[in-house]
Amino acid sequence: MGETAKSRYAETYAQWRADPIAFWGAAAKAIDWTTPATAVFDAEAGVYGRWFPGATCNTCYNAVDRHVAAGRGDQAALIFDSPVTGAKRTLTYAELQHEVSVLGAVLQDLGVAKGDRVLVYMPMVPEAIIGMLACARIGAIHSVVFGGFAAKELATRIEDAEPKVVLAASCGIEPNRVVPYKPLLDLAISMSAVKPEKCLLLQRPEGVGNLTEGRDLDWNEACNDARHAGKAAPCVDVAATDPLYILYTSGTTGKPKGVVRDNGGHMVALSWTMENLYGIKPGEVFWAASDIGWVVGHSYIVYAPLLAGCTTLVYEGKPVGTPDPGAFWRVIEEHKVVALFTAPTALRAIKKEDPDCTFKQGRDMSHFRTLFLAGERADPDTVQWAEDQLGVPVVDHWWQTETGWAIAANPVGLGLLPVKLGSPTVPMPGFDVQVVDEAAKPVPAGTMGSIVVKLPLPPGCLPTLWQQDGRFRESYLEAYPGFYSTSDAGFLDDDGYVFVMGRTDDIINVAGHRLSTGGMEEVIASHPDVAECAVIGVKDALKGEVPCGFVVLKAGERRPHEVIEKELVGLVRDRIGPVAAFKLAVTVNRLPKTRSGKILRGTMKKIADHDEWAMPATIDDPTVLDEIEGVLKTRGMG
Ligand code: COA
Ligand code: AMP
Repeated sequence: MGETAKSRYAETYAQWRADPIAFWGAAAKAIDWTTPATAVFDAEAGVYGRWFPGATCNTCYNAVDRHVAAGRGDQAALIFDSPVTGAKRTLTYAELQHEVSVLGAVLQDLGVAKGDRVLVYMPMVPEAIIGMLACARIGAIHSVVFGGFAAKELATRIEDAEPKVVLAASCGIEPNRVVPYKPLLDLAISMSAVKPEKCLLLQRPEGVGNLTEGRDLDWNEACNDARHAGKAAPCVDVAATDPLYILYTSGTTGKPKGVVRDNGGHMVALSWTMENLYGIKPGEVFWAASDIGWVVGHSYIVYAPLLAGCTTLVYEGKPVGTPDPGAFWRVIEEHKVVALFTAPTALRAIKKEDPDCTFKQGRDMSHFRTLFLAGERADPDTVQWAEDQLGVPVVDHWWQTETGWAIAANPVGLGLLPVKLGSPTVPMPGFDVQVVDEAAKPVPAGTMGSIVVKLPLPPGCLPTLWQQDGRFRESYLEAYPGFYSTSDAGFLDDDGYVFVMGRTDDIINVAGHRLSTGGMEEVIASHPDVAECAVIGVKDALKGEVPCGFVVLKAGERRPHEVIEKELVGLVRDRIGPVAAFKLAVTVNRLPKTRSGKILRGTMKKIADHDEWAMPATIDDPTVLDEIEGVLKTRGMG
């Protein structure tokens, strides 16, 4: 689907290549700056250079206030639709400005000032977005933690970000249960060496939390008091290079990486994408069916649609089961959504329950123009199915928490390029994407290798990791000098289309969620009966991949394997969280290793996935693989 002739992609990409400074300088005109930048880019600043040095600005002003000033006050800024509670609510830009100013004042009264961190642990409710914007308004740095993480993960983030205040809700709501957040938060704070001074708790009627004396305040009471006292925080000027937020993402160990996003470059990049990539006009309704705990939520539920003067949809529900596989089509019809952004796994879930899309019948989706997919590789079957059922272009695009926006996409706003199933299409301006071998040499078209991006990264990408320039260099810049390593493997074809086939590290993608198998191994290895273990991601028809843990028990362990395996499943759920979807631990006698002692995870994965595999030349004892295959067969795998 799509027309090549009319696309302005090639000329736009060429313009960027010819003069990146002029390109991003022009894009920056979409933003209201308090003080203009002294330069578009300073190659000497930061780890690899910084965008818009010398400029001052405020992200909340650009996302909210300026639209009110420009006459959009009565337009819906945010539509909340929560099938799990039955709640629906619309906030206009003027109402959003009021709510954000009041909460900003509450935070300031709690002592939060420019540069202070505020941790947000909340489900998909409007107050979570108000909280993020209130931080942006007063120059504080928010760090949102996804609700599906366990207390231990929350504690790790509290220790690293050192938040002065926590914004939390009493509970989240999953289709099958209410998840009490408050006890998890209390446990996390008790585990953490760093103690936030105050917590503001949004009490939800589905599950009220206890307020800890001296530390916790009721959100609504605090805001009502501030409102009655006529308090409203003005927008505080920050440097374009100051952090807007920290978002933790899985690294190769249990310690997550604190991805830093700045204010200025982030606004410029996201504004550019709304028009040119997504093809969205101010006033239109844009829906990213993700969660604010993920980067997609930060960029495309909160900041980009609001920066562009659109209406953003905040959905508290699932693609299926809330109440049925027609939920997405109902929301698109009811709220006049023009574009939906979701993960392929959500479509696979719908397809599984309603393969003929009967739940779409009778729905008026005539205003719906485009479906965007990201978060994991969009398998051709799912893309084709969605295109057939919806009759609109289905645009796969590839990005990472680190980049904050798409590295490769099919730019709807510039004019669609022909779709090649299995490819997120072409690099976006700002990204010089190359595929290299282990010696950092470019490989020919069609050859698999490591995907890298020539430095500098464009505006909006991470300038560093929170207070860890060294780890930033080591994780991303050292393997291929002069390039940012994406840790994704793939190839470029003869037309310059990018194909992203998988990770080169131990990160797995479970239902569009990024998880570290190394982190899971750390948890499993801490069990007293486990001698050693290996976690791999195995193919799953719904979630793409699910983790599977192979464990060798300590000699002399006499308890039944099944009991210990159950304990391990519980342990990962308790320490990392339900989002890890760790449901399978398999006891084996030995793990396959190379002669130098490296566990052959790749071969184990191939066996579990029914892929063709060859005996690794370096294997120490080939019979171990037969044992693994045998054990997997007894579990219906391999
Ligand atoms: N708070 C608490 N628990 C949560 C949670 C949250 N915010 N989000 C998910 N969980 C829990 C789920 O309840 C589930 O628990 P369970 O093991 O008790 O059933 C577990 O974490 C795994 O959740 P999930 O991976 O979401 O699986 P699911 O079976 O509940 O739903 C899909 C499957 C495909 C419908 C769902 O994964 C989905 O909608 N994915 C879209 C992913 C997405 O939007 N990614 C963002 C990138 S764009
Ligand atoms: P996250 O940082 O959680 O957004 O996860 C980023 C990772 O998800 C990438 O490094 C890829 O491995 C994978 N990913 C995201 N989008 C795509 C896509 N469109 N195609 C292939 N892989 C993707």
